[in-house]
Amino acid sequence: MYLKNGIEVSKSDFSISIEDLAVLRGDGIFEAIKIHQGYPFGVERHLERFQRSAKKVFFENIDFDEIKKNIYKVANSFENGYVRTLILRDSKDGYNVFCFHQPPVNIPEYFTLETQKAFWHSSGDYSQDEAFNLGTKSTSYGMNISHTRKAEMNGYTDALLIGKSGEVLEGPTFTFGWISDDQIFVPKLELGILDSITRQYLLDFGREGILPVKEGLIHIDKLNTIQGAFILSTAKHGHCISRIDDIELPKHELINQIKKTFEERVIKERDKK
Ligand SMILES: Cc1ncc(COP(=O)(O)O)c(C=O)c1O
Repeated sequence: MYLKNGIEVSKSDFSISIEDLAVLRGDGIFEAIKIHQGYPFGVERHLERFQRSAKKVFFENIDFDEIKKNIYKVANSFENGYVRTLILRDSKDGYNVFCFHQPPVNIPEYFTLETQKAFWHSSGDYSQDEAFNLGTKSTSYGMNISHTRKAEMNGYTDALLIGKSGEVLEGPTFTFGWISDDQIFVPKLELGILDSITRQYLLDFGREGILPVKEGLIHIDKLNTIQGAFILSTAKHGHCISRIDDIELPKHELINQIKKTFEERVIKERDKK
């Protein structure tokens, strides 16, 4: 299903011009939401982040009620997969809203990650107050994806981005988490990492007393001391990292519990609707 500005179109009409600013400058924002038996999990949180992104990069007069309706229309038409919504600038004063269904993708159960320096990442040098556009979920993903590509070329599943001071940041398309002292940790947002929706849920599980979750910082030199590590994203609710560079990591029991807790939360949220 392909919706362009709220109207269902054929795949061939679901396109933009090479001359659009979205192509020339990567000038756009997006959200991807996972569909669980017709339900778009975390839709309210995704919409909230979408509105924040729109504000940060000056998209004005966007009808987010209409976007929400589009997201439900797509999600309700499919059992699984993702609803992707993009707001793409065409000219200085114009934009188009694209909403479509993406079929499920194959995701490995275990990830191997190659640490890579991310010189372009704000990595905590600026706070959200200092940099108005920090934290935007922008379609400018060229830098992120170059890390994934390099890691794949070196035989890894993906990359793990490292900041200037050696702090572990995030993956090119996922949140990183680790286990130390039988506690689950995710990096602090002050590192300039994305305010990931699955990270938000995990921290809620901590606040609700379901799992032992904390925010923290971990330096690359300390990765050999952790008990386990995992990946979080809309598509990956707690996938195990089996190796970082040459450090082998076991699958800690807490990673199974993260997965299970997400499964339960999806059902709870879906049944409430
Ligand atoms: C850089 C980055 N960090 C983290 C995430 C995970 O975010 P979410 O949990 O909202 O999918 C993503 C998802 O695309 C991402 O691109």
